Amino acid sequence: MKVEELSIKDIEQLVELERLCFATPWTQEQFSLCLAQEHFYVFGLKSGNRLMGYISFFLVGKEMEILNLAVHPEKRRQGLGTKLLTAALSFFRRKKGKKVLLEVRPSNVAALNLYRRAGFVQVGLRRNYYPDNREDALVMALKLL
Ligand SMILES: CC(C)(COP(=O)(O)OP(=O)(O)OC[C@H]1O[C@@H](n2cnc3c(N)ncnc32)[C@H](O)[C@@H]1OP(=O)(O)O)[C@@H](O)C(=O)NCCC(=O)NCCS
Repeated sequence: MKVEELSIKDIEQLVELERLCFATPWTQEQFSLCLAQEHFYVFGLKSGNRLMGYISFFLVGKEMEILNLAVHPEKRRQGLGTKLLTAALSFFRRKKGKKVLLEVRPSNVAALNLYRRAGFVQVGLRRNYYPDNREDALVMALKLL
């Protein structure tokens, strides 16, 4: 599977995968609004034509904010999440990016391990951040050399 940039034509598959992966999934309207913005990107991995994972992010100047990373439940633990993150970071490096930020739930062990393995460190905490269960968010950052 090769990482490719996704567009509005992939929106139905994005929404479907999102529903499989998150308790409070993004809606079609949210994806549609973001995809219309110049600085918003989604990279995906497809098996045939079927979307198996995606990463979404904003690039603003020298900073990248990762919004979401998701892999189809049947395809997890096979390196797809890491592949998507690595592709997004390489793309950002080519644009001379310096700093990457993201938020993650402390209970999300899979995501935390993945981000830590990629070199992210905790730089902050947002209390009661997630509306569904009032869970805090860890703010993690990666500085690119
Ligand atoms: C988080 C997520 C994207 C990981 O995707 P993935 O393709 O399974 O990740 P990888 O196979 O690249 O795993 C890389 C490393 O992350 C860690 N990891 C991944 N899943 C894990 C799990 N269930 N438990 C503990 N560590 C895990 C491991 O260190 C793993 O390396 P290893 O398999 O060699 O031990 C996936 O679990 C997912 O879609 N979760 C639901 C959505 C979500 O929570 N996204 C994160 C939002 S911040």
